[in-house]
Amino acid sequence: MDSSGIPAHLCTRFLGRKIVYMHETGSTNDEAKALARSSHLYPEGTVVLAERQTKGRGRLDRSWHSPPGGIYMSVILRPAIAPEEVPGLSLVAGYAVALTLRKDLGLPARIKWPNDVHIDGRKSAGILSEMSVGTEHLDRPEVSYVVLGIGINANVNTKDLPAEIREMTASLKEELGHELDPNLLTASVLNNLEPAYEDFAGKGLERILPELSSLLAYVNEPVILKSRTPGDLQKITGIFLGVDKEGRAVIEVGNEKRPYSAGDLSLRRRDSEHQTT
Ligand code: BTN
Repeated sequence: MDSSGIPAHLCTRFLGRKIVYMHETGSTNDEAKALARSSHLYPEGTVVLAERQTKGRGRLDRSWHSPPGGIYMSVILRPAIAPEEVPGLSLVAGYAVALTLRKDLGLPARIKWPNDVHIDGRKSAGILSEMSVGTEHLDRPEVSYVVLGIGINANVNTKDLPAEIREMTASLKEELGHELDPNLLTASVLNNLEPAYEDFAGKGLERILPELSSLLAYVNEPVILKSRTPGDLQKITGIFLGVDKEGRAVIEVGNEKRPYSAGDLSLRRRDSEHQTT
């Protein structure tokens, strides 16, 4: 993978037009956050890429194992949106990745709300969005930048991953039976992300919602949503109906349709239907 191989495949206006390439780093999200503070040097669309990460981070303080062969990138964005809209961006990124895996590679990728891309129930990519909020307007906080971190298990050997996540991980190389061109895949994700991001930044999820919804995993299936509030783990069981315009998961619990803005969604096996909170 190299920064000069990507531009040849890009058809974006601003995403990936500046690339900071690193052989190894702790976390590309941390690097991108440091760069995002100097906006004149690192404009919107700047991408930080690394061959491997030593401290890759996932959602909910989890680590993201980042052996060689994976794609680890963080995109600096400056959307004029409110902080509470930022989680929708993870969905938009998941949509762009799922679209790329389906269209370019023919893989049956699905978005697993809120931030994963799955193939046949195993994780092939994860998204971690992090933001900085300006302090000028205390009554109306504004996002000053978002770093959208995308990790894709492209040419990863699942045997290099810890045993406890090996079974739950889908390596694209192993799914397809051959190596992928990481430059082409990275450029393609950025090509799909740019129009979806521009739509989202201008009009919210509304326009891409129908197509995004058609790629969601677990729709109309029984699910468990685990959400952690300080000192408390809540488990909600119901039928996953999809996502709303705010990017929240809508779950049918009894006769009610309830929106949830955060949590971990998993399929509920029929033999664990007793859990309801
Ligand atoms: C998750 O599944 O919880 C999110 C994983 C996000 C991983 C990517 S890899 C590039 C960027 N840098 C990080 O440290 N994390 C994100």
